[in-house]
Amino acid sequence: MQNIVILTGAGISAESGLSTFRDAGGLWERYPIEDVATPEAFARNPDLVHEFYNLRRANLASVTPNAAHLALARLEAEHPGTVTLITQNVDDLHERAGSTALVHMHGALKGALCHTCDHRWPAPDQMWPKDTCPSCHAQTTRPDIVWFGEVPYGAERIDPALNAADVFVAIGTSGNVYPAAAYAQHCARLGAHTIELNLEPSTNQRDFAEHRYGPASKLVLQWVEEVLAGV
Ligand code: OAD
Repeated sequence: MQNIVILTGAGISAESGLSTFRDAGGLWERYPIEDVATPEAFARNPDLVHEFYNLRRANLASVTPNAAHLALARLEAEHPGTVTLITQNVDDLHERAGSTALVHMHGALKGALCHTCDHRWPAPDQMWPKDTCPSCHAQTTRPDIVWFGEVPYGAERIDPALNAADVFVAIGTSGNVYPAAAYAQHCARLGAHTIELNLEPSTNQRDFAEHRYGPASKLVLQWVEEVLAGV
């Protein structure tokens, strides 16, 4: 029974209507990283950073999981081996599709975190600098998002899964952000079969043995059907 590890990025949610980061018109073109996605940006202008994530949290209300999210949830439910889903996405579309073995390595829009006491709680629709932590009451609340320069979440679950992977699949990610961009090479070196499912070749395409290019809704559905049929 095969251990399958899947890494998803913004491309899997594109057909649900959420913007990617680096495509033309993507989020980082409209909101420079250094203004909204670093601890320094938050220290300098917390209102602007909250506004950016409040807007993105609000966008979640108008989108639904697409065929790719649903296919991955079906794979987890029906595959006889293990399926570990690692997402760089901060949306909740994998959960809403039914995936449970899920690691949000870059955090989640629906989470809030206290910088003082590390307490976590469900984020309200709107967060602002004056908010207080429900546990220690400090005015040091922030979105539970991993910003550039911070350590991604879940290494204690991700690393053993990568080391035991028979198949590693990256879906809808451009391969620009580490450590996620190094996972394919790591798994390939340990003998896993590596597959890239993306709209176009990713930056680290040479780390994959198999490449399929097209929209995630089509590619993921097809690949999941093949796996479940034992092809
Ligand atoms: P990117 O915006 O860098 O890449 C999205 C990828 O999805 C691109 O390679 C697109 O070609 C592809 N894509 C677009 N539409 C697609 C579709 N319908 N089907 C399949 N693929 C499609 O997003 P990520 O790689 O996820 O981190 O970015 C990684 C991290 O960089 C994010 O988690 C975020 C960002 O900075 C933080 O904020 C820490």
